[in-house]
Formats: sequence, structure tokens, C-alpha cells
Amino acid sequence: MPIPYLLTTLLYTFVALLAAADASIVSINLVSAFPALRWVRVHFVTLGILSQVIFGLLPLLTASLSKKPRPAFSWDIWLTLNVGFVALVAGFGGMNHPMIFAGGTLIFISATMLLLQLWNVRGGDAPESLKFYITGIFYLLVGIIIGTGLFLNWSDALYIKVPLEAHIHANSWGFMSLVFAGLLVDFVPMVTGHPLSTTKNVSLIYWGMTLGAFGLVLGPWLGGSLPPTVSGLILHLSSTIWMLVMMIQAFKASSRLNSAGAWHLVSSYIWIIAPIGMAPFILLGLVEGAPIESTAPQALIYGWVLQFGIALIPYIARKFFLKEETPQLGGSWVALATATAGSLFVWASIFIVPARGVLYGVGFALYAIALIYPLKELAEIARMGLQKAEAA
Ligand code: HEM
Repeated sequence: MPIPYLLTTLLYTFVALLAAADASIVSINLVSAFPALRWVRVHFVTLGILSQVIFGLLPLLTASLSKKPRPAFSWDIWLTLNVGFVALVAGFGGMNHPMIFAGGTLIFISATMLLLQLWNVRGGDAPESLKFYITGIFYLLVGIIIGTGLFLNWSDALYIKVPLEAHIHANSWGFMSLVFAGLLVDFVPMVTGHPLSTTKNVSLIYWGMTLGAFGLVLGPWLGGSLPPTVSGLILHLSSTIWMLVMMIQAFKASSRLNSAGAWHLVSSYIWIIAPIGMAPFILLGLVEGAPIESTAPQALIYGWVLQFGIALIPYIARKFFLKEETPQLGGSWVALATATAGSLFVWASIFIVPARGVLYGVGFALYAIALIYPLKELAEIARMGLQKAEAA
């Protein structure tokens, strides 16, 4: 993993910890919120932490798995991603439309360059994970277009009826789900010595997730149309659960289920399955949708995306940056317990209305605690790696 990406990952993990602590203090009414905090909190994890790792890792990983020469570091991709992100933070802070437009455009350019780089790896010995990565980045491009237009109001011109939901679905069920699935296809064998499954099953999961995400984006795009939403839900949920079962089997066969890292990966999926699992009840009108739609995305990002990163990022950094032969997955039992309890509190805040602020605040205090160990772990890896680089 190239050094600039590792350092920006570390930087944004630190900011994510501060933002979680801040959300807790604001919810308990100790200080008032900075206007873009909600945006910043989610996107420091998605664009800040995970996208750094994904953009830094995928060109190296796919080239090495397809036995191609290591590609040179692309400063243009790194710079457009990070300058774009800083512009978005500033743009959402002051609701400055040209700044939001510039930020969204730069990140779009960065993702397009990454997509082209991955596209060129196709053919020959290309790994089966490559199609997950390419399709995932394609969904990111769709998500960026919708997200950038959210406050610039171009959703009407694109006939998007419920743009926030379409944005979240393109990025979560499209981008993150597919890229994470590709990472599991590549890393589960490295961690456990067992392949995730047969090529045919992996291919079926790819199609289930890809078509499922398409339905889940099309549904809100058309204003909640049921046929695409319901078929998307069924396809996505069944492929995700199937993949989860295969991951648990591989961890069990290699006796890895006694490590916190494996549990971080497995249990993180509760927090993506939970909102999909609630959808039928919302669609049937048995549960009120609005409170779930406004709060569940926070638990989705901190419970699923962040925990997935807590387990896998230190492993990736140890393998590709420190060049360890048999690295450990990241995370700890305390981080696992606090991240899980944090998500339970955030979900409880949806249903227990009188105590909503306090429950939400406690949830984010727990997330902040969950981030302390991963931050120390990543800082230590960066320190060791930089020391090695300086001595070389
Ligand atoms: C250029 C890239 C992006 C832009 C311009 C963007 C923009 C936005 C905007 C404007 C909102 C609405 C915020 C609000 O209502 O206060 C939002 C929400 C959200 N975005 Fe993004 N986004 C981007 C990338 C991503 C990515 C990569 C993810 C990955 C999963 C993501 C996930 C979310 C989620 C989960 C929410 C809902 C947050 C909540 O309601 O709590 N976004 N985004």
C-alpha cells in the first residue's frame, strides 16, 4: 500500500474518532453542532478512510494477482481524490455550491482514472475479484453524480424522485458491497488458506449483488417503485447472506473464529443486513420508515463499513506496506464490543423516542472508544513502515 494513502488513512481515522466523540457531546447537548457535521461524519469514514485504502490498494492488488508488473504510484488519482474531498468538506460546511461542484467533479475524475486503470488489468490471469472492483467503482461514479447533485438540485433534471436514498443505495449496496465482496474473495484465502467458494458460486454472488444493487438504485430513482426495489432486495440480501455463510465456514475451517479480527468482519454484516431486513416491514406499512431512514445510515457506516475497515486495513497495511508473510487481522475485543454496542444504541434511538438524544449520544461515545485501538494499531504500523523506509 503506497505511503501517501496510508498516511491519509491514518489522518482520517483520527478525524473519524474526533467526529464520533463530537456527535456524542452534541447529542447530549453539551455543545451545538457545526452545520456540516452529519455529512462530514459519514463521509470521513466512506471517502476518508475506506476510499483511501480502496484507491491505494486495488491497482497494486489486481496487478500482483494477475502477475503483472507493479504499477507506478499515480499521484494524479491520489491528488484529485484528496483535493476533491477537502473541497467537499469546505463546500458542505458553507453550503458553497461551486465548491461542492468542484469537489464532486474532482472525485469523479479520480474514480474514473482508477476505473480505467483496473479496466486495463482484464484478460489473461486477471483475478475473479476484478469484476467486483470494476462494477463497484462504476456504482461509485453513479453515487457521486447523484450525491453532488443533492444540494445543487440537478436530481429533477435526471428525473430522480428520491435522490438521497438513490445516493445511499448506489454507494452502499453498489460501491461498498461489491468492493468488500471482492476483497473477501481475495483476502479470505490469504487469511485462512481456504478459498471463499467455487468460481461458479462467486460468479453467482457477483450477479446477485450487481443486479440487486441495480434494483435498489432504480427503486428510489422511480419514486419507490416496488418491482425493482423488492427484486433488488431479494437478490442483494440472499447473495450477501450466502457470502457471509461462506466466510464463516472458511474462518471456522481454519480455526480463526477465536480472533477479534474475524468477528469484526462477520459481525459487521449485521449492520447492513439490519436495514435491508427492515425494508419489507416499511414497505408493508408495519413500521414507520422515516426515523429508520434518517438514523440507520449512521449505524450502517459505523457498524458495517468502519468495522470492516478495522479488521482488514491493518491486515492490508501489514501485508503490502510492512511486507509481513502471515499478518494478523486488525481490531480487538474491546473495539468489537464497543462498535457492536454503539450500533445497538444508535438503533435503539430509532425506537425509544423519549430517550433518543441520550441513546444516540451514548452510541457515538462507544464508537469513539471503538476507534482508539485501531488508531493506535494503524499509527504503530505507519511508524514501523516509515522507520524501515528511512533506514533503507
Ligand atoms: C463525491 C462523493 C459524494 C458526495 C458529493 C456525497 C454527497 C452526499 C450528500 C449531499 C448527502 C446528504 C447529506 C445530508 O442530508 O445531510 C449524503 C449522504 C450520505 N452519503 Fe454521500 N456523498 C458522496 C460519497 C459517498 C460515498 C462514497 C458513500 C459510501 C457509502 C456515501 C454514503 C452516504 C450516506 C450513508 C449518506 C446518508 C447520511 C445520513 O443520512 O446520515 N456517500 N452524501
